[in-house]
Amino acid sequence: MSLHQLVYLSQSTGKPGKDELAALWAQAKANNARIDVTGSLFYNGGWFMQVLEGSAATLASLYDKIGKDPRHHDLRLLYNEPAAFRTFVRWTMNMTNLEERQADKYQELIDIIEAAKTGRKIYGVSPAVTLLNTFKA
Ligand SMILES: Cc1cc2nc3c(=O)[nH]c(=O)nc-3n(C[C@H](O)[C@H](O)[C@H](O)COP(=O)(O)O)c2cc1C
Repeated sequence: MSLHQLVYLSQSTGKPGKDELAALWAQAKANNARIDVTGSLFYNGGWFMQVLEGSAATLASLYDKIGKDPRHHDLRLLYNEPAAFRTFVRWTMNMTNLEERQADKYQELIDIIEAAKTGRKIYGVSPAVTLLNTFKA
């Protein structure tokens, strides 16, 4: 399998509450387990940022499906590259709601999402790469 990693940013439609985020998370986890996809989903202030890992073909159709979901819009593909290994091995889909400020990498993640929103680089690299490196360390 040719492993790929894909990162995108999108804007949520409305302000999803805890229950809506939990439902989305459960749905993603169940589906991703079936198609051997791992990754992480971050939510903050009306913005989603998601990492998806799996075969290139699987990610292409999953990204297409996710892009049609009315719960968000304005998807911006930030990264879609081959990878030597998975960064989120343990997670069919980890979910971090930064509005609850529970993440140990809280400030770092907020900065990455802010940079992605404005198309700014962080120390010369794409915020998507910084995001992946934050967890690869
Ligand atoms: C921000 C966001 C992230 C999502 N992530 C995933 C995902 O990782 N995997 C997945 O299968 N569906 C994901 N979905 C849901 C899909 O868009 C779609 O609703 C779902 O896969 C349909 O599931 P079903 O085929 O079981 O009805 C996501 C939706 C949103 C809004």
